[in-house]
Amino acid sequence: MSGGVYGGDEVGALVFDPGHFSMRVGYAGEDCPKSEIPSVVGVSNAADKKSDGAMDVDLKPGEAVAAGKKKYHIDTVAVNFAKAGMEVSNYMRDGMIDNWDVFEKVLDYAYVKVIKSESDNHPVLFSEAAWNTKAKREKLAEIMFEKYKVPAFFLSKNAVLAAFANGRSTGLVVDSGATHTSAIPVHDGYVLQQAIVKTPLGGDFMSVQCKQFLDEQLKNKGGIVPTYQVACKSPSVLLHLIRTTSNDLHFTAKEEVGCGESPKFTRRSNLPSVTKSWQDYVTKQLVQDFQASALQVSDVPFDEESLANTPKVSYEFPNGYNNEYGVERFRIPEMMFDPSLLKGQQAQSMLGVAHEVTTAVGMCDVDLRPALYSSVIVTGGNSLISGFNERLNRDLSLKTPANMRFKLIAANGTQERRFGSWIGGSILASLGSFQQMWISKAEFEESGKAQVDRKCP
Ligand SMILES: Nc1ncnc2c1ncn2[C@@H]1O[C@H](COP(=O)(O)OP(=O)(O)OP(=O)(O)O)[C@@H](O)[C@H]1O
Ligand SMILES: [Mg+2]
Repeated sequence: MSGGVYGGDEVGALVFDPGHFSMRVGYAGEDCPKSEIPSVVGVSNAADKKSDGAMDVDLKPGEAVAAGKKKYHIDTVAVNFAKAGMEVSNYMRDGMIDNWDVFEKVLDYAYVKVIKSESDNHPVLFSEAAWNTKAKREKLAEIMFEKYKVPAFFLSKNAVLAAFANGRSTGLVVDSGATHTSAIPVHDGYVLQQAIVKTPLGGDFMSVQCKQFLDEQLKNKGGIVPTYQVACKSPSVLLHLIRTTSNDLHFTAKEEVGCGESPKFTRRSNLPSVTKSWQDYVTKQLVQDFQASALQVSDVPFDEESLANTPKVSYEFPNGYNNEYGVERFRIPEMMFDPSLLKGQQAQSMLGVAHEVTTAVGMCDVDLRPALYSSVIVTGGNSLISGFNERLNRDLSLKTPANMRFKLIAANGTQERRFGSWIGGSILASLGSFQQMWISKAEFEESGKAQVDRKCP
């Protein structure tokens, strides 16, 4: 290290990309994150005396991280396992880290279980929402340098990173994640802050709409029944099925029923008394699966009559209830493109996705607009709803001024689309020319947290 600039790249840098759905974690230079840790964490009272005190370093995935009197249940296996009294909550809020205690537990877990290396060995690049606050940026830098003793640190806007992942440093990034859909203009690697447009019409909003619809449909069929409530077949029955290579290789004890009929299944006995927050969480996961499997965005603005003849899609729930879905699967995602379909209050004030893009571009300098229209970059998990890009392409082709070229850019692969920001971070942190950009430990110690605003745009 010379002159306070971080010069060592002998050990791999790490990239952390926190979001409401999950935090993506891995090594810079790799194609994909090593792991995706859900941002929902379970907390219960530590009944087990042994595990009181500091974090248990030998924890296995699925075990609790015990700290003080609380046990933290982190990662898919631990948080999805039904436990009496476990409350779950999300440490993110409005795209930013909000519950720092829980967030630090997740970081501890990430170092021990995913990275499997000491934090003071690796420079760390974090992504952040374009609207992250100064106080939160500084707090993160402090935690990383003071608690985790990282040798170097950098913060980068997730929209900029998503643009990099798609080979662009200028473009209009449409990010449809869990809690919001945003349109963010990026110019030469910098976010144009005054022109950010966002709405809460993201994946979570889709989940709420789907749940309302399914609650109504399943009202007299026992409601949405999460997998943990359905009993498993006995081991002997399963063995028999495997030996006879039967087609009926369901692990759950349910019978086949006709389309739309009441399900016939065995409820699991001795269920632990789970909390409402956990029950809601596992139900939401089921709804998210329905969302990803059944929803489709119509090619043209929604018209019930013309869609009535499109083939229906069937979907089966873990308890065997199954139905065919036709017009509804188009109507629900249409709200993202035409919020006037939303009943009630907020509808008037919200913009559809294409409108968000044109509004954001319209707030940028006239000279910049052609460059933005010619690189509209789509990223985020919710953009994977089938037909999303085709519809956005159509709507924007109609709205783009005649003298400008319009091009929509989106990674084809599911992973590339969902992990856009992480992949951009992975590329950035492994560039030779980036190495002088890090805030080094020495710089932080000398000049303090104000370095974050000075060095990270
Ligand atoms: N294949 C899919 N089809 C449809 N929706 C999907 C698919 N995969 C993920 N989703 C939805 O995408 C959302 C998560 O997207 P993403 O991982 O981009 O969010 P995030 O970055 O963690 O959250 P945020 O950007 O709100 O902070 C969830 O609502 C999830 O249900
Ligand atoms: Mg996101």
